[in-house]
Amino acid sequence: MGQSPDFSKIESIVEALKPAAVEACANAHVVYSNFPVGSALKSDNEAVFAGCNVENASYGLTICAERNALAQAVANGVVPGSVRELLIYTPGEKAHTPCGACRQVMQELLSDDAVIISCCDTDHQRSWGISDLMPDPFRFS
Ligand code: THU
Repeated sequence: MGQSPDFSKIESIVEALKPAAVEACANAHVVYSNFPVGSALKSDNEAVFAGCNVENASYGLTICAERNALAQAVANGVVPGSVRELLIYTPGEKAHTPCGACRQVMQELLSDDAVIISCCDTDHQRSWGISDLMPDPFRFS
């Protein structure tokens, strides 16, 4: 497995994962922010897992879409460190960047060569490798 993200795969990743992220986004529980987010990822055995943000009246308990999708994957047996493709979808005209908490969780559960893509309802799109988003993360080892 290479260490560098293969950005030539972006369009095929969007094609494969955007529908699942859009579908999950429609279920977002965003009664406080009204800012729905969907996320979808593909495991190394091609299974797709998706998540949305789920807010809470105790605001700090909110789970972001990306961490929700990653938790779904782990709960279904995806090996931490093996996820190579993760997509974020936010409705509207701008592709958003993931929050710091999600970056920390991503760097532990994604592979070193993962491609992370953010997309929206326009052509605006962004993509990163995990070291772009989370250089020098906290680790026990
Ligand atoms: N949110 C996400 O789902 N992912 C991020 O990376 C950033 C923020 C959610 C949390 C909250 O429900 C809403 O967006 C506004 O912060």
